[in-house]
Amino acid sequence: MSAAEVMAAEQRYLLQTYARPAFVIERGEGCYLYDSEGRQYLDCVAGIAVNALGYGDPDVAHAIAEHAGGLIHLSNLYYTRPAIDLAQMLVERTPWADRAFFCNSGAEAIEGAIKFSRRYARDMHGEGKTTIVAFSGSFHGRTMGAVAVTAREKYREPFEPVMPGVRFAPFNDAAAAAAAISDDVCGVIVEPVQGEGGLSVATPEFMRVLRERCDAVDALLIFDEIQCGVGRTGTLWAHEPYGVAPDMMTIAKPLGGGLPIGAVLMRQKVASTIHIGDHGTTFGGGPFVTAVAQTVFRKIADPAFLDHVREVGDYMGEALADLQAARPDRVLEIRGRGLMRGVVVRGSAGAIREAAHREGLLIATAGDDVLRLVPPLVLSREQVDEAMAKLTKALDVPG
Ligand SMILES: Cc1ncc(COP(=O)(O)O)c(C=O)c1O
Repeated sequence: MSAAEVMAAEQRYLLQTYARPAFVIERGEGCYLYDSEGRQYLDCVAGIAVNALGYGDPDVAHAIAEHAGGLIHLSNLYYTRPAIDLAQMLVERTPWADRAFFCNSGAEAIEGAIKFSRRYARDMHGEGKTTIVAFSGSFHGRTMGAVAVTAREKYREPFEPVMPGVRFAPFNDAAAAAAAISDDVCGVIVEPVQGEGGLSVATPEFMRVLRERCDAVDALLIFDEIQCGVGRTGTLWAHEPYGVAPDMMTIAKPLGGGLPIGAVLMRQKVASTIHIGDHGTTFGGGPFVTAVAQTVFRKIADPAFLDHVREVGDYMGEALADLQAARPDRVLEIRGRGLMRGVVVRGSAGAIREAAHREGLLIATAGDDVLRLVPPLVLSREQVDEAMAKLTKALDVPG
C-alpha cells in the first residue's frame, strides 16, 4: 500500500479524531523514526512522552519475547506474580506510597484516583464531602471524570453533563487555591509540571500550600504524574524536588515501554478505605504488561539513567534559552524541566510544528502557542544540537 493509499484508507475507516501529518511512519530506531519514503525524523514526541527508552530497546524487546509465550492475561480474579512484583518495585521507590492499583491508561488512573478520594471522604467524614479541586491549564484525560477535572472547555463542553462536583482554581495562585480547598473538598488534583496545558511548572509555594490546605480539611492531594513522572523531568518523580508528598499519584505513559498500563500509588490511609469489590478492571495489571513494565521501570529508575536525563535535559534547557536569545521575535518563553520542555511562540505553534516535520524533526504542541518537546529520555547531547538546528530553521516559517 502506498502512503497515499494508507492516508485514504484512514480517511475512510478511522473515526476522525486526530489530524495527522501527511506521512506514514514505518519503523523506529533509537530516537529516530522513518517514514514509508525512507525519510528520517528525529523524534521529540516519543508517542506523547511514552517511549522513554526510544525504539528497539534490546532489554524491552527481550522482556517482551521472554513473556510472550507465557500468561498474557488472566484477570484480577487470581494471584499472579508480575503485578505484585511491579507494585513492590514502585512502592519501594516512592517513600510515601504503600500500595498500587493497576489499570490500562492515564485516564483510567485518574478515574481511580477520583473514586478513591470520594470513597475515602465518605468513609472518614460521611456524605457531602465530594468536591474535587483542579486547576487552570490542567489536562487529565478524556473519560467523563477526567474531562470533568480538565480545565480547557473544548474538551468538556461538547460532552456535558460531565461528572459534577469539580471546582477550578488558578494554577500557581497559592491564595486562590487555599480559598478553594474548603471543608467540602475530598481531593485536589494537580500536575507538578503541566503537559497538554502548556508546560507550566508548579511553584514550591503553590505545592506547599496545597499540602497544608489538604491536611487542614483532610482532602487527599493527588499528583498527576502521567506525563511528568517516571524520569521525564530528571528525577524519578517530578514532585521530588518540592519536598512535598501527595496522598495518591497517577502514573502511566512510559511505564509499559509502549504497552498500555496505568497505576495509582497511594498511602495506606487511602487504601484502608477501599474494600474488596469497590473498584476493578478486566485487563489492568495483567501478567504480560506488568512483567515488561518491571524491565522498563528498573532501567529508568537507575540513578545513572536519571543523571543522564538531568544532564541532557539541562543542556536542552540552555539550548532553548539560546534559541530564545537569538529569536526573541518568535520565541517568547521557555518552560518545563528535564526532557519535558515548552517553547512559547509568537504566531501559530501548529505552523512551526508542520515546518519542523519538513525539516525532519517531530515536535508536538500544547495549546495554540506552545511547542512541546518530550523526546525519548535516551536522547543524546548531539541529538539536542540536531533538534535545535532543525527547530531554528522551522521558526522561519511565516505565521
Ligand atoms: C497529565 C496527564 N494526565 C492524564 C492523561 C491521560 O492519559 P491517557 O491518554 O493515557 O488516558 C494525560 C495524557 O496526555 C496526561 O498528560
